[in-house]
Amino acid sequence: VSLKNFNTFGIDVNARYFAEINHEADLVELFADPQWHKVQRLVMGGGSNMLLVNDFDGLVIRLNIRGIQHRISHDDVHVDAGAGEVWNDLVNYCVAHGFAGMENLSLIPGSVGASPIQNIGAYGVELKDVFESCHAFEIATGEFRTFSKDDCKFGYRESVFKAELAGRFIITSVKFKLSLEPHLNLKYGAIEQELANRNIENPSIKDVSQVVSHIRVSKLPDPSTIGNAGSFFKNPVISRANFEALMSKHPDVVNYPAPDNMVKLAAGWLIEQCGWKGKQVGHTGTWKNQALVLVNHGGATGEEVYNFSSQIIDSVYDKFGVLLQREVNIVR
Ligand code: EPU
Repeated sequence: VSLKNFNTFGIDVNARYFAEINHEADLVELFADPQWHKVQRLVMGGGSNMLLVNDFDGLVIRLNIRGIQHRISHDDVHVDAGAGEVWNDLVNYCVAHGFAGMENLSLIPGSVGASPIQNIGAYGVELKDVFESCHAFEIATGEFRTFSKDDCKFGYRESVFKAELAGRFIITSVKFKLSLEPHLNLKYGAIEQELANRNIENPSIKDVSQVVSHIRVSKLPDPSTIGNAGSFFKNPVISRANFEALMSKHPDVVNYPAPDNMVKLAAGWLIEQCGWKGKQVGHTGTWKNQALVLVNHGGATGEEVYNFSSQIIDSVYDKFGVLLQREVNIVR
């Protein structure tokens, strides 16, 4: 089975086996057969956060569990969505119903089921801010388990599903807690500026959603026309001491305070300073408006993109002594 249409990078590799999951019961049935416990597995939602480096000699499980329901209690809204729902469809559902909390997460590519795995985030809001719980299938036991927010151990682009439980659970649905009373998060400079451009003084959640979508479209390439997986690297978080040393050599380094007296750097800035912004190398390169995003200009292989990303890591390390980490999942 070709995976070209199942990954937003548009990398053309084949999977040996492919299973589509439309209901939770399909998982129980699939793993009742012991052969699937032995092969390598890859769970896919929107395929928007992975780089497929070569043919996958195992089982691809595509999550297509659908459905969105909500329940209102006082000012709170509990929204339950199937893992296979498109993330932005859920955001649009909530914005259209006046359920506040997700508007800053508009237009993030990918599926609902993938959203907790890396605690997706943008424009001052992270998934954990609206997450209530998720339901997941444990492959080894064939049982379902509910994970509370604490169970998930969310961090910056991190969760238990990427760490100690990696590969052991398949998320089938996610519950969110939203509000009828908006608590807008407009701290992000680009949002404030775009609201001002539009002469909007008292924004609604719909305004915020539209502004965020506008900012994303202007900065980030549309995967339907140019293959990419969003930010390819994480923004590095370094100690205060390392930051002081860096500042003495590069006083203009873009930085933000991070928890525990750490400092977060803008990887896009570091990459741009190394001269990579908008550069095309073979069939790959970085995006012209956002150096943190690697793109497939057409016909790139996963290996080619991977090697290019290694070149970037080396050059940022040579210039700044900062080691970038890949944010996308590398699948071999
Ligand atoms: N910058 C540059 N050159 C570039 C890109 C960025 O100098 O080519 C500088 C900008 O000028 C700005 C700073 O870096 O001062 C931050 O840039 P931006 O606001 O575009 O955000 P980011 O830190 O590069 C992160 C997330 C994005 C998210 C945006 C907005 C990560 C790895 N990325 O990017 O998430 O949309 O903030 O909140 O945390 C993703 O994870 O796939 C993703 C797109």
